[in-house]
Amino acid sequence: MTARPGPLVLGIESSCDETAAAVVRGPGHVLSNVVATQHELHAEYAGVVPEIASRAHLERIEPVIVTAVRAAGITLADLDAVAVGHRPGLIGSLLVGVSAAKALAWSLDVPLVGVDHVHAHLYAGGLSGTLPLPEIAYPALGLVVSGGHTSLYRLTDPLAITRLGRTIDDAVGEAFDKAATLLELGYPGGPAIDRLAVRGDDTTHDFPIARLDNPLDFSFSGLKTALLYAVRGHPVGRGPAATFPRSAADLSDAARADCAASFQRAAVTAVIRNTRRALESTSDTRSLLVGGGVAANTRLRRELGALADERGVTLRIPEIAYCLDNGAMIAGLASQRLDRGEADELTLSAATRVVV
Ligand code: KG4
Ligand code: ZN
Repeated sequence: MTARPGPLVLGIESSCDETAAAVVRGPGHVLSNVVATQHELHAEYAGVVPEIASRAHLERIEPVIVTAVRAAGITLADLDAVAVGHRPGLIGSLLVGVSAAKALAWSLDVPLVGVDHVHAHLYAGGLSGTLPLPEIAYPALGLVVSGGHTSLYRLTDPLAITRLGRTIDDAVGEAFDKAATLLELGYPGGPAIDRLAVRGDDTTHDFPIARLDNPLDFSFSGLKTALLYAVRGHPVGRGPAATFPRSAADLSDAARADCAASFQRAAVTAVIRNTRRALESTSDTRSLLVGGGVAANTRLRRELGALADERGVTLRIPEIAYCLDNGAMIAGLASQRLDRGEADELTLSAATRVVV
């Protein structure tokens, strides 16, 4: 009999607006990865509505788990552990995943493993549907760019993580989503801006890139306001009573593409600038780990590739499915905890805030 190559872990993710479950063998061999997106439910509000999100998670969590287990070609009884992203996120959404994970772990009599969603994004570059798995060399610099987070981290192993910088206002994904709303491109905005930017001239507008006390912190609110003025003109009046001379519909297609391209250049340049600074401040960094939905951005991926080459570090940027919220990253990181003999009690609670 050959030795088993690692535990079979079910990973459950429900922190925001994706209901996701995956089965992963050992540290990162993905046997199935199922994501039920709720984008269509939130589109008319141009952002995630927490009450709608938790109700949709409740409806979808069971079929998503069942589909993930079947797609992996196993049964529930084969699982060695159940993992769940239990922080940070929307509390009502997190609770659905955490409750499902507890019920399953208890009924199957297997360990329950809680995982930090943001730390899991940093682990996504180690996942693969085929063997061998990509190896991650530590120490590493971690970059999380998502709808909720824009942060830089130092990692000495997959679970030893220190934050170096973070956004002081909007997350970069949130800025992409707001930019898309302003340009009337729909929700979620990141992919729409990415597509439109290809046709635009990114030098049309010289949008601002924030300078902050901590050179590794980010801010995107000034960029957002600059785009607002570029699209709609300068406001007449103040606050909620302000009126704008025009809307995105008054711009030509070419002018909208120029706005998208210029916005994307500024947002990506801000991320690259700080990532470069962080890489320059250490000499022992071996890998650059990137995760979160904005890591799907074409321009950011290209520029991160060039930066990693320039600094002589290995870039671990996941394929798109693992950049976005998914259960595989949860299961993979949980496997690292299990490896160390760690697991949680059934009293594990959901938490909205970032811990590290
Ligand atoms: O990681 P994620 O799925 O959820 C959070 O944890 O927030 O990230 C979602 C974010 C959204 O803001 C979405 O607009 C953005 O990732 N996004 C992109 C792209 N694809 C998704 N942003 C820029 N370019 C893209 N191609
Ligand atoms: Zn996420």
